[in-house]
Amino acid sequence: MTRIVTWGQYRESIGDRSGLFAALVEAWPIETALYPGSYVDLSPSTAIPSVTYVDTDARAAKYFADHARVRGELDGRTRPGAAIQVDFLSSDYTRPLAVTDGSVDLLISLYAGPVSDHCRRYLRRGGWLLANSSHGDASLAALDPTFRLVGVVECRGGRYSLGADGLEAYLVPKRPEAADGDLIRRAGKGIAYTRPAFAYLFQSD
Ligand SMILES: C[S@@+](CC[C@H](N)C(=O)[O-])C[C@H]1O[C@@H](n2cnc3c(N)ncnc32)[C@H](O)[C@@H]1O
Repeated sequence: MTRIVTWGQYRESIGDRSGLFAALVEAWPIETALYPGSYVDLSPSTAIPSVTYVDTDARAAKYFADHARVRGELDGRTRPGAAIQVDFLSSDYTRPLAVTDGSVDLLISLYAGPVSDHCRRYLRRGGWLLANSSHGDASLAALDPTFRLVGVVECRGGRYSLGADGLEAYLVPKRPEAADGDLIRRAGKGIAYTRPAFAYLFQSD
């Protein structure tokens, strides 16, 4: 039987990312998001009106199927206008998803593999990719001329902030020869930067 895992329990291990998504919606007009490899990280719904979560893990499917629990966990934690729509797809994001191409404002890629390679198609023109370099997604976006770095997310003492100043100091490889898309995809992890951040915000053409 699949054990019940809740966002509240997960927050105890990874922390609460609500402040990160609050900062994003304060800076940019983000109404819809797609979060492939979300597990039970419900934090985007504290700030964003419509979020589609995607995961193959049975514990995530069980959690999101319990609508009363999901609503209860969001209760008192949402910004005005957030969490109107909370959807979950029990799907492999490397396969076509039941999501319209070019429809989402924000694609979230955190610790879940090469999300942007498979799910960029769902991002609207001018939409945003939030990615970290753990599994290589930020490193790949940094090499993609159709993505532009527009923000950097720092996390200090569990508090998130989004900055847009001095962006040229970020995503500078320690070893320039490591900044190669094929190498990064084969390794399945990001490269080292002279000034690392928790995550990076890119805007697509
Ligand atoms: C390390 S967890 C990260 C969860 C969350 N993104 C976070 O940052 O806390 C990675 C999640 O991605 C999911 N995942 C990995 N590959 C996937 C795929 N191809 N399709 C759907 N989910 C996937 C796993 O099931 C797992 O729940």
